[in-house]
Amino acid sequence: MLYSIVDVTDQKIKDRLAVSCDNQPFIARAPMVWVFLADYQRWYDYFIASGVEEICAQQKTSTQKPEEADLFLACSDALIAAQNAVIAAESFGLGSCYIGDIMEQYETHKELLHLPQYVFPIGMVVFGYPTQQQKQREYSTRFDKKFIVFENQYRQLGRHEFDEMFAERQSQLPKGKSMEGINNVGQAIYLRKFSADFSVEMRRSVREILKSWMK
Ligand SMILES: Cc1cc2nc3c(=O)[nH]c(=O)nc-3n(C[C@H](O)[C@H](O)[C@H](O)COP(=O)(O)O)c2cc1C
Repeated sequence: MLYSIVDVTDQKIKDRLAVSCDNQPFIARAPMVWVFLADYQRWYDYFIASGVEEICAQQKTSTQKPEEADLFLACSDALIAAQNAVIAAESFGLGSCYIGDIMEQYETHKELLHLPQYVFPIGMVVFGYPTQQQKQREYSTRFDKKFIVFENQYRQLGRHEFDEMFAERQSQLPKGKSMEGINNVGQAIYLRKFSADFSVEMRRSVREILKSWMK
């Protein structure tokens, strides 16, 4: 159990998260807001409290601290917990939305949620009651399995495969002023997601969390 959950019930904290997580007002209105934390603090504190420094000194080895690998493992565990919560909620007829933006604004979230050094806010999920329209929403299409499941070894995709992979989405590319000069799905997604301000902030923020984790 390398994870913890913060159940945010204080409206003032929800209001702040709605702003700090890339201005998404529905966060403030969500009946249930859970922050999933990759948490090595509890284990590390327990190790120290258990006298691991003494046993290491006795065995003439240095005391290990959590590093990047431990963080990745804790992130896996926290996200498994998050997805189980999403599925459990679904079984009760509840809807959910992941909020990746919780990795942004580290300084704000650290203060707001009292995060110590070895706690990384890897995901947030907001839960609510889906509207009729949301219940009837068609599922988004997924990439064809051949592009995402490989046998035995990874295979890097090439130009022709991308054309096939994105053909349907390419034909549905919206037109209009905001799309001026944009020729394909790759350019659209790059501009709307990958190079957008929130992604730049997420990279900055995660860099800061890593610096603190590795101190
Ligand atoms: C890691 C992750 C982060 C996400 N972050 C956000 C977010 O910040 N805001 C949001 O409205 N939706 C967010 N989503 C939800 C997606 O936009 C999308 O609605 C959801 O994954 C359902 O996808 P589907 O329509 O392809 O089934 C996130 C999803 C994932 C998996």
